[in-house]
Amino acid sequence: MEMSDFTGLAARVSGKGADAWEVHRIAQERKEAGAEMLILSIGEDVAARTPDHVVEACVESLNKGRHHYSDMIGQPNLRKAIVDHHYALTNQTLSVGNCVVFAGAQNALYAVSSCLLEAGDEVIVVEPYYSTYPATFTANGAKLVTIVARGENGFQPDLSEIKSAITPRTKALVINSPANPSGAVFEAGLVEQIAELTRAHDLWLISDEVYSDFVFEGRHVSPASYMGVDEKCVVVSSLSKSHRMAGWRVGWAIGPQLLCEVFERFALCSMYGMPMFTQDAATVALTGPQTETETMVAEYGARAKVVVEALSNLPRFGAGAPKAGMFVMLDVRELTSNGTEFSMRLLDQSGISTLPCGSFGEHFDGFVRMSLCAPQDKLKWACGEIATLVKGWE
Ligand SMILES: Cc1ncc(COP(=O)(O)O)c(C=O)c1O
Repeated sequence: MEMSDFTGLAARVSGKGADAWEVHRIAQERKEAGAEMLILSIGEDVAARTPDHVVEACVESLNKGRHHYSDMIGQPNLRKAIVDHHYALTNQTLSVGNCVVFAGAQNALYAVSSCLLEAGDEVIVVEPYYSTYPATFTANGAKLVTIVARGENGFQPDLSEIKSAITPRTKALVINSPANPSGAVFEAGLVEQIAELTRAHDLWLISDEVYSDFVFEGRHVSPASYMGVDEKCVVVSSLSKSHRMAGWRVGWAIGPQLLCEVFERFALCSMYGMPMFTQDAATVALTGPQTETETMVAEYGARAKVVVEALSNLPRFGAGAPKAGMFVMLDVRELTSNGTEFSMRLLDQSGISTLPCGSFGEHFDGFVRMSLCAPQDKLKWACGEIATLVKGWE
């Protein structure tokens, strides 16, 4: 059997994004074989649990017999909790008809791509981007056009570069602030200008805000704050990061009512509704106490500080200070143009897995993403190992 036995879509979703996880895969394999590994390649603290009150809500829901098919677009009380959460972030008043629940932000992004983008369209994304973007946004045949947010500019994209990338074929612009992997939080003025630009060119603005509740310096501003409810703006988010619910697969898309009606038909022929018990738990996560989120975000801010300080004075090496999220970008360009080489050597030397950034865009081959999903003492140790590798680099 060959790839030609499958569809063009199968080929388009089999690109570099899928290869990005090779170092992680090897680390997992070694771990399962009994080796001591520090996994800093993913954005999930596998030792940490979803808050207890959320888990309890799920168990209660299961015990109540909520085991059935549910609303295609998500149950109304969860959608109400989501639009209230969105209002708190944006001041944008929505109805539940502006919100559809998906199986995580990734699933929502795929639905957005499937309903908005097709062959002949161009979609602009900002490098460094989340590694699934190329496969997600080109899956249905659209062409990816990238612009680069440089480290020297705090990984903020340049508005004039976005403007220059727009052609008559451009259908959408994707932004991700707070950003993975860079940890940048786009400045409010820039977000407003981006919203105006997409409005002026009649483009869809797709805003991935998975880290909106994960900011430890500055303030997250959504482009939805500057948009009318029926304008071409879609906000995608989830509970994966903010409530340590990555495995629950609860996310959503917020957008104009007509788009949400299209999503409903898409959901009907794709996931056919989400489990009731995870939606019950998600509702409790959004409406219940937020203290664990606040504590967690403060802790990640402290971890970022520890790591950036520990790596600050190494020769031919840089570590960007994130303002949000779960990662620090390591700049290894002066050591090697190939982040995979750095990641593999760190894995072999110390049993620490990091993620090479080549899959975040072609300009980022010389970067490596290190997750902050480990306690401070382990991160300090990891920084010591990185320092050893960097100082002895040949
Ligand atoms: C920027 C970004 N978007 C989307 C996702 C997918 O999130 P989810 O787990 O909710 O599907 C992630 C996950 O790491 C992410 O970092």
